[in-house]
Amino acid sequence: MDKIEINSFEDLFNVLDRINESIDWNSFYEKRVMKAPFLVNNMLPDKMVTEFVKEHSIRDAVEFGCGEGRNAIFLAKRGIDVTAIDSSDIAIRNAKEKTEDLKNVKLICSDFLAVDFADRKYDLVLDSGMFHHLAPHRRLQYRELLKGLLKENGFFVLLCFAAGEDGAEELDDLEFYTKRNTGVAFSEQRLRDFFGSDFEIISIEKRGQEITEEYIDIPLLYGCVMKLK
Ligand SMILES: C[S@@+](CC[C@H](N)C(=O)[O-])C[C@H]1O[C@@H](n2cnc3c(N)ncnc32)[C@H](O)[C@@H]1O
Repeated sequence: MDKIEINSFEDLFNVLDRINESIDWNSFYEKRVMKAPFLVNNMLPDKMVTEFVKEHSIRDAVEFGCGEGRNAIFLAKRGIDVTAIDSSDIAIRNAKEKTEDLKNVKLICSDFLAVDFADRKYDLVLDSGMFHHLAPHRRLQYRELLKGLLKENGFFVLLCFAAGEDGAEELDDLEFYTKRNTGVAFSEQRLRDFFGSDFEIISIEKRGQEITEEYIDIPLLYGCVMKLK
């Protein structure tokens, strides 16, 4: 094996990626052993997303970590042009099967940080459940990318693990690298500390528990709405 040398920040970030064992998402989508609500109900959008689009006029959106496309499909069916990205080729393959008839959804199989957005900006950036799986150094890149992707009055809608619930431990950023983990739970203050200097935080609310024929709501999560300052 080649000796590791760090000659750039990207080299450093790639080394940090290797410290923590991340989830094998392809195996997650293929084996379907974990009965996560978003997997079991993979045709239903998040309640928060359905509420958000009722109240806001959105023409185009990008979704990070779209999984099998349940929110992207919902948005596209409402006439919104959607670019949906996920690094799992199995999730994207399953999403593609469900979106064959939809012309306004573009599915990209890639790490979200490797996508060339060619200076495009969007009315909405959506992330339902990816951010809380990112390593701290990748979160910094996420925030920079996000700032460049939003139109002046664009919205960032985030669903992430809430501290004090059963979704994940409230690890700090050193523990992320030193303990085996499947994600991080965020307190409201930590979300404000991380996003607050660049984003106006419109709301951070604990989600409820509900599954209907139209949507799911997952009580382990915070639902956040933000805008660029
Ligand atoms: C908890 S799942 C949520 C999936 C989907 N948003 C949903 O709610 O149905 C997290 C998703 O993020 C994807 N993901 C994780 N890291 C990623 C990265 N660096 N780039 C793109 N997708 C990523 C995983 O493959 C997985 O599908």
